[in-house]
Amino acid sequence: MMKVEEALHMVGGAGDTSYASNSKLQEKAIRKTKHIVENALKNINGEVIYKSLVVADLGCSSGPNAFLVISQIISAVMEGCQKTKEITFLLNDLPGNDFNAIFQSLSLFEKKVKEEHGDQVLPYYVAGVPGSFYGRLFPNNSLHFAHSSYCLMWLSQVPVGIENGGVNINQGNIYISRTSPPIVSRLYLEQFKRDFSSFLRCRSQELVNGGQMILSFLGRKSSDPSKAELCQFYDLVANALNSMVQEGLLEEEKMNTFNMPLYAASKEEVQQVIQSEGSFYIEQMQILESNWDPFDDLDDDQVFDNMKSGHNVAKYKRAVLEPLLVRHFGEQAFVDQVFARFAQNVAKHLLKEKTKHIVFILALKAKYLND
Ligand SMILES: C[S@@+](CC[C@H](N)C(=O)[O-])C[C@H]1O[C@@H](n2cnc3c(N)ncnc32)[C@H](O)[C@@H]1O
Repeated sequence: MMKVEEALHMVGGAGDTSYASNSKLQEKAIRKTKHIVENALKNINGEVIYKSLVVADLGCSSGPNAFLVISQIISAVMEGCQKTKEITFLLNDLPGNDFNAIFQSLSLFEKKVKEEHGDQVLPYYVAGVPGSFYGRLFPNNSLHFAHSSYCLMWLSQVPVGIENGGVNINQGNIYISRTSPPIVSRLYLEQFKRDFSSFLRCRSQELVNGGQMILSFLGRKSSDPSKAELCQFYDLVANALNSMVQEGLLEEEKMNTFNMPLYAASKEEVQQVIQSEGSFYIEQMQILESNWDPFDDLDDDQVFDNMKSGHNVAKYKRAVLEPLLVRHFGEQAFVDQVFARFAQNVAKHLLKEKTKHIVFILALKAKYLND
């Protein structure tokens, strides 16, 4: 059973296929949450003034987005919480993350922050914290604010029971699909409930009373999990892999033991987990719809250059999936082929339908212990 903690990391460094060079989709979501982050920070400081603010970014990855989060928070605190005198940023991700790339770019970032804010910039300190956010990462009551962008759709593992005693009950697919037996959706949902509850429980212990979290992650609009926008997306990846199996370029056995460790929950499923876990109030929940191609800013009924979109989508998906695929299928060489085929599939799909990513943006507030 594949454990995400050991297997997942985005493509590191700053090269052409790296996450750092291919994370515009996620950048757009971070920019959309700017005002929600500003409000949340004002609220924490409105009740008790935190002179020394401790902030965690959970699943920070590496590249410009990690710095964008830090810089948005520095600006928000300088404008909205004048009594705060310093900030500690705790950057968390899984151990395979390219933390070095972040640390190596810090001095460049510091220069930029100085250019923007002058010498008046609030002192801030940055530390890396490797580990899974489905377990404890920080001491009790030590955080004031937690942020996590485009992460919580990742599960801690492929759901228990999908690869049952060596038999994959979801053969031919790599995520929930229209042809998956109904039990597959149920197993994915159960895993999501377990994981998201653990996440909330751990953060509630780490956050101070009244501490805030801003979370954004992929979800779905339909109540039926097999009609999720993300199912269509991963069907196109599965189709690329299956076509290579048919041509003898990939081992069938490998394909039959591969399932994606992620889940696109519905709004109701997310709310239900938060309510039954019980440590947080939902202050706000928004739904953002984002074109698959982050370079396509056209409306729904307008078709962007679909071949270009196929290429753009394949590039950012490769930056996320390449290490996971190579680990499972065992060879680097096939990756170019998979993503070339996936790009074609996306281009064809977008001519038929302009499917979107559905992103939930949540503002949560830790309940007071005696509430
Ligand atoms: C798509 S990236 C998003 C990165 C960044 N927050 C952004 O918005 O660009 C998802 C990140 O979540 C991390 N991640 C997934 N599961 C995690 C877990 N259980 N604990 C910590 N990080 C995790 C991945 O390693 C990856 O870096």
